Amino acid sequence: MSKRLFIFDTTLRDGEQVPGCQLNTVEKIEVAKQLEGLGVDVIEAGFPISSPGDFKSVIEISKAVTWPVICALSRAVEKDIDAAAEALKFAKRKRIHTGIGTSEYHIKYKFNSTPDEILERAVSAVKYAKRYVEDVEFYAEDAGRTDNEYLARVVEAVIKAGATVVNIPDTTGYCLPAEYGNKIKYLMEHVDGIDKAVISTHCHNDLGMATANTMEGVLNGARQVEVTINGIGERAGNTALEEIAMICKCHHDLDITTNINTQKIGGISRTVSSLMNMPVQPNKAIVGRNAFAHSSGIHQDGVLKNAQTYEIINPKDVGYSDDQIVLTARSGRAALKHRLALNGVTLDEDKLDKVYQDFLRLADKKKEVTDDDVLILAGADRTASHHIRLDYLQVTSGVGIRSVASIGLDIAGEKFEAAATGNGPVDAAIKALKKIINRKMVLKEFTIQAINKGSDDVGKVHMQVEYNGHVYYGFGANTDIVAASVEAYIDAINKFHNK
Ligand code: KIV
Ligand code: ZN
Repeated sequence: MSKRLFIFDTTLRDGEQVPGCQLNTVEKIEVAKQLEGLGVDVIEAGFPISSPGDFKSVIEISKAVTWPVICALSRAVEKDIDAAAEALKFAKRKRIHTGIGTSEYHIKYKFNSTPDEILERAVSAVKYAKRYVEDVEFYAEDAGRTDNEYLARVVEAVIKAGATVVNIPDTTGYCLPAEYGNKIKYLMEHVDGIDKAVISTHCHNDLGMATANTMEGVLNGARQVEVTINGIGERAGNTALEEIAMICKCHHDLDITTNINTQKIGGISRTVSSLMNMPVQPNKAIVGRNAFAHSSGIHQDGVLKNAQTYEIINPKDVGYSDDQIVLTARSGRAALKHRLALNGVTLDEDKLDKVYQDFLRLADKKKEVTDDDVLILAGADRTASHHIRLDYLQVTSGVGIRSVASIGLDIAGEKFEAAATGNGPVDAAIKALKKIINRKMVLKEFTIQAINKGSDDVGKVHMQVEYNGHVYYGFGANTDIVAASVEAYIDAINKFHNK
């Protein structure tokens, strides 16, 4: 009989922890609903004690989602567990995820403690969480670098205390695949009562081995995998959900099944990338723009004769349909609605009206409006709460002349104007902007990305602006890249302007 693998998605917790990827509650609900539609078994919805925003999001996601288990993270600390339990009160199926660092590094340097004391704290946390919920998951942080014998003692003790799931994170992404697989095997063979709990993998990608490690974990007995859409997450990210789902689908020889409706992968990948302002690298497995593009003549010839010559995945299996409805200035609301639905986005009629008006404005400037464009438009009201807005921007630039920009800003209803010259149009526009917002801000990172290929394409700009010792992230999207750059700068400023 085939083995069922549980998919635990942590896009909204480990993924959302990434600077610049923060979502508001409405956006988190949108992602959670799409995760439910995708068929994940567990949604880690947040870390409630960490901020009022996270607390509220766990509450709202619990109300909005029906089938998946909703999980809330906590440290092995009573007040964290209280907050997690409170935030989960509306969840139909709920889980508290609690844990503590078990490696020598964590025990000695983070906790200034001893292995026995940490083991006691682990057991107490599980027992405390059990007062609130039946389903308690324990994580042994930095298990990847934890001595196997000690790890087995901890795992045995927390299962005895009532943990239903035990998570073995390779927190630093250090393990080699065989090493991680052997760790899981060791636990399966040495822990009394291991059959009373599900063993989970949680692998980070610091050395590019997250997916390989996760699969080794699964092949050695893990039945749950902790993953994120597009592999986003702390530092180099987590194991990508789409990779594990497609490995299980392609490798019939493994006889492992998941509940994932793989045809929804493309849509949710684009939604997450768009809402989190996190571009997907073009050659990313499964969801990258080039994942199914055959460019060499030999490959094209082979694929035309029989797709299986160079394709192990049918693009339709991951939702890359060859839907032929092209969006242009003549497309109606129904076509836009259809395109958004293909990307997993449903909007109420009022929001759809607004997005449609923005769409028409964009379609006037571009021959063809792409999926990425409409997803940006659908997420565009994230600037609605902005205190500072761009009123107008005029730039003169060229070869052999200095660029000149004049800018108009609306700051909480008051109008401001300034002009400046610069080394190029973006430099001039930002100098003009800084004449109005006169603070010590330093541009730390600036990325411009064209979504598709045409010269009429929308450019996306990601920026990091340092102010007062903190780095703030900004995003802008416009067919005019100077305007997109200024929008990104303003987006970043809005994050600290009122502080
Ligand atoms: O990477 C990690 O160890 C984690 C735990 C909090 C589960 O994210
Ligand atoms: Zn993690």
